[in-house]
Amino acid sequence: MNIIRAKNYEELSRMAATSVAAQLYEKPDSVLGFATGSTPIGTYKELIADYKRGVLDFSRATTFNLDEYYGVPVTDENSYYAFMHTNLFDHINMRSEAIHLPDGMAPDAEAQCVAYEAAIQAAGGVDLQILGIGNNGHIGFNEPGEFFPAKTNHIKLTDSTIDANSRFYASRDQVPTTALTMGIGTIMAAKKILLLISGAAKKGIMEQAVFGPVTPQVPASILQFHGNVTVLCDFE
Ligand code: GLP
Repeated sequence: MNIIRAKNYEELSRMAATSVAAQLYEKPDSVLGFATGSTPIGTYKELIADYKRGVLDFSRATTFNLDEYYGVPVTDENSYYAFMHTNLFDHINMRSEAIHLPDGMAPDAEAQCVAYEAAIQAAGGVDLQILGIGNNGHIGFNEPGEFFPAKTNHIKLTDSTIDANSRFYASRDQVPTTALTMGIGTIMAAKKILLLISGAAKKGIMEQAVFGPVTPQVPASILQFHGNVTVLCDFE
């Protein structure tokens, strides 16, 4: 794993955006894997700024987001669909038909997972996957467990993730309890991965993921087995 320590969040965001830009320069029709959470917001701001300056073109790109809450409509401001549109897609020239998130309102969650996985394959797989990390080491919404889920799946969120997400809701009982997420195998199939980790509060979980044993108890630790991962953090 290539570990880069940025001076601060601004530098982390600039470096991450540069990496997305480099991918698009090299391959304008890249398949990009995007993540939600507060960590990539700065990266998305930089990408928007690059687009507005006329140095970045998303018109031939395709995107797949990691995950979506289940049972949450796209009109809900807490849906990941809304997050991605507000923080990125509404401000760049992505074709709407090239934007993909799991459908959190699909009546048959399992069928939706199969369809999402198939759509990623049909697009040729993800060229560059941006990841954040949960406080408990999750990537996408693959929570700590007994095994690494291979494919896109319908998961139950852990109490610690529900606690972390409750900051966006008036009360904890409004927080969605399940989600559709790319599996660990789906993520590991990306050709390149950029893991963004911001804030000293994540130093402990970063060290477990990057230097600790590879275990499904720390889902991000599996990234040690991927051949092209850059970990970009903003702490020593
Ligand atoms: C959610 C998302 C993850 C993200 C995590 C961390 O759980 N499903 O993809 O990495 O939040 O979010 P933050 O960057 O806000 O700490």
